[in-house]
Amino acid sequence: MEDWNNLYKENLKGKKSIGFVPTMGALHKGHISLIKRSVSENDVTVCSIFINHTQFNDANDLKNYPITLDSDLQMLQSAGCDYVFLPSREMIYPDDYKYKLTESELSRKFCGAHREGHFDGVLTVVLKLLNIIKCDNAYFGEKDWQQYYLIKGMVRALFLDCNIVPCTLVRELDGLAFSSRNKLLTPENRLKAPNLYRIISSNKSLESMKRELESLGFVVDYLEEMEGRLLVAASLGNVRLIDNVKR
Ligand code: PAJ
Repeated sequence: MEDWNNLYKENLKGKKSIGFVPTMGALHKGHISLIKRSVSENDVTVCSIFINHTQFNDANDLKNYPITLDSDLQMLQSAGCDYVFLPSREMIYPDDYKYKLTESELSRKFCGAHREGHFDGVLTVVLKLLNIIKCDNAYFGEKDWQQYYLIKGMVRALFLDCNIVPCTLVRELDGLAFSSRNKLLTPENRLKAPNLYRIISSNKSLESMKRELESLGFVVDYLEEMEGRLLVAASLGNVRLIDNVKR
């Protein structure tokens, strides 16, 4: 942490603007679109790669989370990212997670209803990262719409001096939202997965969308509307996919 503070004082303090993209690595075109946006809007772009154990409620999910550091660093360099912050668990949690931040309403719904403590982990780590990086703008994907919404709310609630920038969800050519977890799909389920976006983009009722997904083998966690958005989480095998569309 001392290294980062020195680097900040020597190189970043006083720069016109610092853009920050927090990630958990296994980078793909979705992440890179956030980096490119930050590069185009700031003097300096920082990306963090930190697999935040406190937001995983399932030990297997954490164990299987993909790690592709070499290719991550190459992609970041080609996208024009200036600094990569790769902290250790001890660096981020000197308190051993005795202090945490909880939102008491939206965080209990949708992804929060099925993943206990997930958003406490997300909000706590993002608060820590924003305090460390001291950025002007932080970039979050609309892929994780609930996460973006909660982080935006945290910044407002705690008077954090940082602008939260929502970024468009990026999809594969077949419509599947880019996700680090897509790599974990079996070839058969990878072929099925684009049906998620196809079905939630149709104008059908929620009930018939749910039935159609289930008939294709998806196990639907939730499919609900909130503030003009249709939010969905559904699993294929043991891989949980999330997506959302404007409605
Ligand atoms: P991670 O899943 O690595 O995602 C990092 C950022 O990339 C998030 O803001 C996410 O919304 C965005 N992103 C992922 N896939 C995207 C896609 N297909 N299109 C657009 N943006 C996409 O989200 C996290 O990490 C963590 O919860 C984190 C915020 C880093 C806290 O640990």
